[in-house]
Formats: sequence, structure tokens, C-alpha cells
Amino acid sequence: MNVYFDNAATTPIRTEVIQVISSVMENCFGNPSSVHAYGRTAKTNLETSRKGIAAALNAAPQEIIFTSGGTESDNMILHSAVKDLGVKTIISSSIEHHAILHAMDALKLLHGIEVLFVNLLDDGSIDLKNLAFLLQKDNSKKLVSLMHVNNEIGNILDLKKVGKLCHANDALFHTDAVQGVGHYVFDMKELPIDFLSAAAHKFHGPKGVGFSFIRKNSGLQPSIYGGSQERGLRAGTESVHNIVGMFKALEIAYANLAFEKKKILGIKKYFIKELSKLFPNIVFNGLSGSDNGSTFTLVNVSFPISKEKASLLDFHLDLKGIACSKGSACQSGTGSGSHVLNAIQRAPINNWPSLRFSFSIYNSKKEVDYLIEVFKEFKN
Ligand SMILES: Cc1ncc(COP(=O)(O)O)c(C=O)c1O
Repeated sequence: MNVYFDNAATTPIRTEVIQVISSVMENCFGNPSSVHAYGRTAKTNLETSRKGIAAALNAAPQEIIFTSGGTESDNMILHSAVKDLGVKTIISSSIEHHAILHAMDALKLLHGIEVLFVNLLDDGSIDLKNLAFLLQKDNSKKLVSLMHVNNEIGNILDLKKVGKLCHANDALFHTDAVQGVGHYVFDMKELPIDFLSAAAHKFHGPKGVGFSFIRKNSGLQPSIYGGSQERGLRAGTESVHNIVGMFKALEIAYANLAFEKKKILGIKKYFIKELSKLFPNIVFNGLSGSDNGSTFTLVNVSFPISKEKASLLDFHLDLKGIACSKGSACQSGTGSGSHVLNAIQRAPINNWPSLRFSFSIYNSKKEVDYLIEVFKEFKN
């Protein structure tokens, strides 16, 4: 049996999405910047997708800028905020995706900005009191960049609360919502968010395409220079087939949100229950084992097993056709491991092997049963 429990890494593309992508590739190859009929058809597809994605987020179409995915959106927003908006301090956390962490490293070197990391609570949540303190530290222009759903431990940030806090202190707020868009509802008219990043391949769309939400009149200037595509902010011929595919994927995701969430949450809860029976001392990292504050799509677990057995765990699961993600903390000071678990785990758990299992609508409880059987075999 082959089981794919790595949906936080990427999701399978829905059949309907593949169909529209193929159809656009076959029938609509024009360049949307061309003025002839081929170009106009491509442009119509492009703008219909922009309008549809904007409507799904209750945003304005001109606030949606298409990019190549989450990494580009994160980089675009952080770099532009420093380059164009006079941001001198970025407040973020040590458990962000590397697209944020490494972009901030580059901005420190390139522009001498200050990066402040907000304290984390023991469960991996953001310490909002400390965030308030950092926001008031000095008078420098600040951007707060905090992710919506953590891709490793699943903790969810209260976007409304954080956005309000940022704005009350005259700071801009960016959220990396790559793991949230398509899984949670975003009302951009209600949410105090200035910038947001999203990627289609996390909600059953194609890879290499995503978007930045950039609030109207933000003052951002071009991040890629060239033609006048994407309102001049991000030059380059748009990937029309992928963009149409992303729209289709988002449309289906939001049309089926309640039903799919219920099913996926059911799988997650079943998984937690069955695995806890088998390993009574198992630890669910972050908030991933609790009902509140964690996404319904993933769990991150540390196993109380011997070092000898731990080294065989990934191999055993792979051999049995199970795909999940290795997420262990730095083992015995070897210097690598998950930066997220390294930030939150304490001894002795940080010496246990950790794995992330992430679910989608294409998974079933039967697959969980199979996984449990595989674990039983491994344990004995
Ligand atoms: C939270 C988060 N941000 C950013 C990214 C990067 O997105 P992309 O793979 O589309 O560049 C990912 C992908 O794993 C992610 O999970």
C-alpha cells in the first residue's frame, strides 16, 4: 500500500485542476500582453482568475499579484518593504519558513536592518506580550512578519489580534499564509493585514505559482524589472495555465471547505487516538495534538524509542510505502535538524525522532490503520 501523508510539503493536484490547465495550454497559448485575439483570450483568462481569487479572499483584484509561489511572495514583500517603505526593523519569529528567515538574513547584510525575534511560549505559540514590547522598543519603521499556520507544528496565529496590535503601533503586518490559504477563510476587508503570501501547490493546485496580497496604496515599487505585467510590480509573462489552475484549485477548496475540513479533522483525530494507544508516552509537538490553536491538516510527533530503533524509523516507513516528513530536532549536537523543533523542544524529547504527518481529502482512516500496523511491526 502507498500512503501519502506529506501534504504540508505539497498536495496532489485535483483532476479538475489538471483538466483546466491542459485546456488552457492547448487552447489558450497567447501572451496576455499581446493585443491580438490570442493575447486578449489569455488576458481574459488571467483577469478572470485574478477576480475570482480576489473574490474568494474578499479583496480587490488589483490587490492580487501573481508570483511563482510562497518563496517569491515572501521575498518580494520583505525586500520591497525595506526598499520602498523605509522599514528599518523586522519583527518575526525563529520558527518561520526559511523563505522568511533567509530573506531577513540577506536584508540585514544588504540594508543593515535590525531583525528582532519575538519570544515563543513553550507550546510554540507567539508571546503576544513580548510582541507588544518589541513594537514599542523604539521609533523605527517596523514590519511584523509572522506566519499564519506553522508548516512544521501546525500552530495557528490569531491574525486579527496580531494585525490590530501591529497597526496600533504603526507597524506594517505581513503574514506567510502558505499553509492557511485554501484551508481557512480569509476576509481581507476585515483582517488588519497589509501583505500576505500564498502558494497554489499547498491547496491541490500546480507548483511554481502563487500570489501576494498587497493592500491598495501600499506604496510598493517593482521587485522584478521588465515589462508592465502585474501592475509593473512583478515583470515577466504570466504563467496563464498555472494561474487558471490555481484559481480552479482555490475555488474548489472554498466550495468544499466545511465538508473537507470535517473529513480531514476526523482522520487527524483518529490518527492521534490510535498512535497514542500504541505509544502511550508519545509527544505531539507544538499544539498539533490539541483541538485548539492547531491546523486540522497536520500532526508532528516525537517517539519515545531507543536511539538504535530511531535510526531505522524513516527507512522502515519508506520501505512500507508511507510518505511523511522527517522533522527531528538537532540530534546529539550534530548541528542540523528542524529549526522549529530546535526552538521549542527541551530535553529529553529533543533526542527522540520526530515526524510530521500531514493529511488531505485524498487520505482515509484505512490508511491510518495501515500506518498503525506498520508501527506495530516496527515496535516489536
Ligand atoms: C509556510 C511556508 N512558507 C513558504 C513556503 C514556500 O513556498 P513555495 O514552495 O511555494 O516556494 C512553504 C513551502 O513549504 C511554506 O510551508
